Parts: sequence; C-alpha cells; structure tokens
Amino acid sequence: MGFESCKPNVEAGDVVIIFMGHDSMFPINVKKGEISQTKFGAIKHDQVIGHEYGTKFTCSKGWVYVLQPTPELWTITLPHRTQILYTVDISMILFQLDLKPGSVVCESGTGSGSLSHAIIRTIAPSGYLHTVEFHEGRAEKARLEFKEHGLSNYVTVYHRDVLKDGFPVTSVADAIFLDIPSPENAISTASNALKKSGGRLCSFSPCIEQVQRTCSALRQKGSGFRDIQIFELVRRSSNVKRIFVPMADLGLADEGVQRELAKQENPILPCSYEAGDDIPVGEV
Ligand SMILES: C[S@@+](CC[C@H](N)C(=O)[O-])C[C@H]1O[C@@H](n2cnc3c(N)ncnc32)[C@H](O)[C@@H]1O
Repeated sequence: MGFESCKPNVEAGDVVIIFMGHDSMFPINVKKGEISQTKFGAIKHDQVIGHEYGTKFTCSKGWVYVLQPTPELWTITLPHRTQILYTVDISMILFQLDLKPGSVVCESGTGSGSLSHAIIRTIAPSGYLHTVEFHEGRAEKARLEFKEHGLSNYVTVYHRDVLKDGFPVTSVADAIFLDIPSPENAISTASNALKKSGGRLCSFSPCIEQVQRTCSALRQKGSGFRDIQIFELVRRSSNVKRIFVPMADLGLADEGVQRELAKQENPILPCSYEAGDDIPVGEV
C-alpha cells in the first residue's frame, strides 16, 4: 500500500486512485474480474493488475492514470463522513506536534480519518496512533479503512467519548490532537494521556470563540501547559508579472554635462546608459 510506503506494481486487493484530472479522481479497491466506470469509460481491474503505478490507461472516451494512494490523495478523494482536515492544516499540525517516526499520538475525533492517515505515515514504522471516536458507525468504518489500507499495525480506533472517558492510555503520548466541538472540556481528561514531561497538545477550531475557550482551559492554573501558541493558516495567491521601471533622470542627456564628462580621462559616469545598466547612483 502506498499510504505508508511505496511499491512498484498494482496488486489485487490494493486501493488505488483513478486520476482523470487534478479536480477529478476517485479511489477504487482493485479486485480480479471487476470493472469500474469513469467519466472516460470503463476500466477493467484485470487490465490494471501487474502494471506499474502511474501507468496511463486508455478508456473508450479518454484516458486515466492509476496512482498509488498517499495521505494527500486520500484526503481529496475519501468518502466524507464528517468535516475533514485538509493538507495545508495537516502539514502545520504534524510540524507543530513535532511528530516523527516513533511518536505516540492520541487523536479525537477520528471523523473521516483524513488527518489519521497523515499521522500514521509520519510516525510509522515504530510509532502508534490511538484514535477515539464516539460515533460507532464512523469508528467501525475507520477501522475497516485502516485495515484495507494496510495500516492496522499502527493504529487502534476506540469507540468512546473523549470528554467523559479521556484516552485509553496514560502517560505515554508524545502528542495529543483534538478536533471535536468542545475541546476545552477535554483538556483535563485528555492530557492524562501525555507523557510525564514534555509532549504537545494541538486543538483545531473553526471559530475564534472556541479558540478562546480552549486557550483559557490550557492557561488554567495547574493545567500543566505552557508556551501556548495560536496559528491561523490563510491561503493567499500572488500574481507574478514583469514590469519596467523608468530610469532615474540624471541629466546625462544634457549636452553641457556630456561635454564636461567627455573632457575627463576616466569619467565617473559614462555618457550614455542603456536599460538594464547598473547606475552608480551613490556617486552622482
Ligand atoms: C470534524 S470531525 C474530525 C475530522 C477528522 N479530523 C478528519 O480529518 O477526518 C469530528 C469528529 O469528532 C467526533 N466527536 C465529537 N465529539 C466527540 C467526543 N466527545 N468524543 C469522541 N469523538 C467525538 C465526531 O463524531 C466527529 O466524527
């Protein structure tokens, strides 16, 4: 599976991404004898099995690429069961939580597993993710997906309420991540999972009031947290274009100035300039 590591060829049982364009792709489970429909026509799974990942296949009305899944591709193609986190925020979260191979992480809620896939790739092969979801159906679906994606060795999905019951582990986590409606109420129970010294907690909030409440809870005397930071990621496009700046008028076009310069053996300024020349403005 490509979620945790790469492999060269497609095999039966793999989850692959059918790519028809940057805004048009979907995942399929490759099964012998099956056929999937795309907007460019049908693709036979038997045709794909054994081929290298990245191969282009011609369908009746166009072509598709078969790609190895990654957490990033999964995030944009996964079946939504909840609001999900996207790659821009996910990158910042992984970085700020200081995750690396071997990290132990506690997450709640699991939701659609978008963030979980990225966490697992970062902490594998020696780390572990404990992810808590109080909606039974979502917990079950996430478990199934992790199994299908070959990730079961790195994660356990628990069906429980993180507000009431906290995380199922104590004093082991390097990092805690919360994406639930009232994270401020989870701080004290959830933080029991953090290792005795060090460790980081990150809470993702879609509104500033929730951020304020969470910060207040983290700042409570005896909470054990310090160095609290808030980040807002805003996407901004830049328009890069070429423009011409008018050259400074140094009076060099004046005939009198040119005559004087011509008399000098080594004039500080040459008599003429062309666009693009460096002008020693400081010496004028
Ligand atoms: C916004 S979704 C999380 C999305 C996830 N971060 C992702 O990237 O796919 C929030 C999830 O938290 C779960 N949840 C809400 N309150 C909870 C609680 N007290 N304990 C456990 N899970 C909870 C919800 O059922 C929902 O699935």
